[in-house]
Amino acid sequence: MECPHRLHHWTVPSTMFTMSLPSFLWLWRIAAWSMGLSLLAYLLLAITGVWMFRARRLQQEEPSWLHSFHYMIGSCMVSLVLLLLLIGIIGTLGHFGSLGHSPHLIAGLTAVVLVLLSAGSALLINARRLWARRIHISANIVLFFGFAWVSLTGWSVVQKYLP
Ligand code: HEM
Ligand code: HEM
Repeated sequence: MECPHRLHHWTVPSTMFTMSLPSFLWLWRIAAWSMGLSLLAYLLLAITGVWMFRARRLQQEEPSWLHSFHYMIGSCMVSLVLLLLLIGIIGTLGHFGSLGHSPHLIAGLTAVVLVLLSAGSALLINARRLWARRIHISANIVLFFGFAWVSLTGWSVVQKYLP
């Protein structure tokens, strides 16, 4: 026998689908773009950082814009990562009402801590605080793996929401 409510069987699930999915596609689309820009920022910082390092070692002149460019891109990277943290926490709380649904949380917090450590130590670098430069460089090497970790776990979490 035909079910008289057949239409309901289709409309109810599909409206749920259209209501919940786009909000999460929107979330991870911004996350993916911000992450792409963060990785671009990291690349530029690595290039300009190595350039400054070499110029100092070889006691060469460095272009006057190099320092402030490195600093500016660094500030952009800090902002992007904090934005990612905010999106992740607000999106997850909005969807589940709680945090900690995958290793992505630990990966995200690790990346944020490393970026803040890097930026914090960068502010302390001067001729009498050589340890600050060592912390800055070490934090950034570890950050490479932190970024890889957060991208991989973020990507695998996104798979849950793909149609
Ligand atoms: C978190 C954002 C960042 C900020 C705010 C920042 C800022 C700075 C500042 C202010 C210095 C001081 C340079 C000096 O006075 O000698 C510096 C040095 C340096 N930075 Fe960054 N940086 C950031 C990220 C990075 C990243 C991601 C890398 C590499 C992947 C990097 C590599 C370096 C290196 C190698 C130096 C040493 C330059 C030298 O030995 O003279 N930085 N950074
Ligand atoms: C530095 C970069 C990132 C940080 C700091 C970050 C941070 C976070 C945090 C703290 C959460 C809450 C996790 C939980 O409580 O279980 C989260 C969730 C999430 N993030 Fe990220 N994230 C980053 C990058 C990414 C990337 C690259 C993607 C994918 C394109 C992504 C997609 C997501 C998604 C879909 C969720 C929802 C979690 C779930 O459904 O279990 N994130 N993020």
